Amino acid sequence: MDKFFDKFYYGGDYNPNQFPKEIWYEDMRLFKLAGVNIVTLPVFSWASLQPSENEYDFSWLDEIFDLVEQNGIDICLATSTAAQPAWMSKRYPEVCPVDENGVRVKHGWRVNFCPNSEVYRHFASKLAGKLAEHYKDRKSIKVWHIGNEYGPVCYCDTCAGKFREWLKKKYKTIENLNKAWNLQFWGHTVYDWDEVLPPSNIAGGKIVHQARALDYFRFMNDSVLECYLLEKEEIRKHTPNIPITTNLMGTYKPLDYFKWAKEMDIVSWDSYPRANDPMSNIAMRHDLMRGLKEGQSFMLMEQTPSQQNWQAYNSLKKPGIMRLWSYQAIAHGADTVMFFQMRRSHGGCEKFHGALIAHVGHENTRVFRECAELGAELPKLKEIIGSRVKAKAAILFDWENWHALELSSGPSKDLKYVPEINRYHSAFYNNNVTVDVINPSFDLSKYDVVVAPVLYMVREGVAENIKEYVKNGGTFITTFFSGIVDENDYVTMKGYPGELRDLLGIWAEEIDPLFPEDKNGIVMQENDLGLSGEYECKLICDIIHSEGAKVLGVYKDNFYMGMPCLTVNEYGKGKAYYVATAPSAEFMDAFIKGICQQKNILPKYTFDKGIEFTERENEHGKYLFVLNHNTCEASIDLADDKFVDLLTSKEYSGKATLPKYGVLVLKKIN
Ligand code: GLA
Ligand code: ZN
Repeated sequence: MDKFFDKFYYGGDYNPNQFPKEIWYEDMRLFKLAGVNIVTLPVFSWASLQPSENEYDFSWLDEIFDLVEQNGIDICLATSTAAQPAWMSKRYPEVCPVDENGVRVKHGWRVNFCPNSEVYRHFASKLAGKLAEHYKDRKSIKVWHIGNEYGPVCYCDTCAGKFREWLKKKYKTIENLNKAWNLQFWGHTVYDWDEVLPPSNIAGGKIVHQARALDYFRFMNDSVLECYLLEKEEIRKHTPNIPITTNLMGTYKPLDYFKWAKEMDIVSWDSYPRANDPMSNIAMRHDLMRGLKEGQSFMLMEQTPSQQNWQAYNSLKKPGIMRLWSYQAIAHGADTVMFFQMRRSHGGCEKFHGALIAHVGHENTRVFRECAELGAELPKLKEIIGSRVKAKAAILFDWENWHALELSSGPSKDLKYVPEINRYHSAFYNNNVTVDVINPSFDLSKYDVVVAPVLYMVREGVAENIKEYVKNGGTFITTFFSGIVDENDYVTMKGYPGELRDLLGIWAEEIDPLFPEDKNGIVMQENDLGLSGEYECKLICDIIHSEGAKVLGVYKDNFYMGMPCLTVNEYGKGKAYYVATAPSAEFMDAFIKGICQQKNILPKYTFDKGIEFTERENEHGKYLFVLNHNTCEASIDLADDKFVDLLTSKEYSGKATLPKYGVLVLKKIN
């Protein structure tokens, strides 16, 4: 399904129970002024909803529901299960998780439970069911919000036992397990299931068997997901037609969000960039969140209106930035703009986190004014709800590969997955070529260009999927340290890049990591990408031999000077590129531009640097989102196309100039 809401929702986390009642009425007045039409209730209130094991009290929440509904505001109903009440941790200490050192973590934080605790699971799903039963007839509930930012990892004995069961199901025999984890290495063979332990903090956190750690990640992901599913099942019994979500966190390593998205009706996520995060990195995370459900639009569940409290430096979003970044989320597929939080906490660790309503309590603040201005604009976007972002390029992102790559001891501690994803994403971004960030197992046929940065682990079916795509005319790009291991982290014995070797027409003989202060260069050879001269490269240099691939660039230095570092291989009707090193941004922008030019997917509009745009499309039309990230005016040339700006009703064609941080939402009219 593409469309879940019939309003453009604007609002966010609301915690009125932290304040006296008089304030609730004032909140309603302020919400109306700000154009708030949805609030998320009651994210962290388990202890008030269930004061003791056998006692539930929803009366205070009933009152808030009534008030919110009387004011025409809809509700995103949270199950409140991310922080268990103190009585539970006291009576059932096993609810609290155990850390990697075997120490039971004390009660007092949040998302601080053992996901395999039967007690936690029982009480959490029961509360979700009770809430659903109690509120099932409230028409104001538009979406369910289970838990909050899931993510506990636990190493307790219960988890160890469950891990063994999980392994037995997967491997059947202890021999298979020994083989899968290569336990012959260092003589770690096991003979009985009770000798199998979760990875723990031995030798300062060193991992001996990467396959074990990988399985623990998969197992923990499944365990946490089960908690979500148990609540979901209870909710569905009473409210089968209300969409269900949980708020994700972008590039959050502990959970494989592709697996989660299958169980979510609509993806929602919390975007908390640093003030100096490159815009392309923020865009990448939106593209990933949209990619989880193959392009379905998502909810921006949380962002701060002004500042955070938990970063090292919680700088303010400058005037205009909150609006600009909200539109950036929409440009990348968001159908809601929501905040943490509606009113600044009076006390506690989030009291300095930004909110719609400041401690001073009135509307005469910069942040409130900016929020109210945005709140007045967003209803104009109603027709874009459910529209799809159009992308002809894709980047493959794989959580298992991420773990495997970073569990690897060698070749370089500086080799990290997300920065390599960003290296490619930012090159598309700078050329304003929209990308979907998707799973390697997804259908690739709708894309002209597919990139798999550091595809170290090639899981079953992935090589076939990519080859099928290239055979049919696709252009594929991959990089150094790809095609190295299978899903148990066993290294290919077929020469790197293993299963991708024939596709790429190269053999990587050696892998040379560089010291941070060292660099090499790419010397371009004859090519049809429009690249010439030399470019810098760093980090890793694969030493490769062509086995049929055309050499487009060679190394400038080192003992492998003159050997290939950029190649292309014809395969079926398509092409497969190998980038054997980590090139400079200058190379990346030119290389991706050359590739997109060849595939004819460069935008038809020309634009100044710092102008970002994407296109969304649905049955009502095509919408071009144009964002000016510059601190000065900048322009886009719309050629002969004619548009009307949904925000101002002004018509545009030819050159359009945007003020600093300006935004256009242009509907095509010719
Ligand atoms: C997360 C949580 C919120 C709040 C914010 C603060 O996203 O979901 O409850 O703690 O962080 O930035
Ligand atoms: Zn546990």
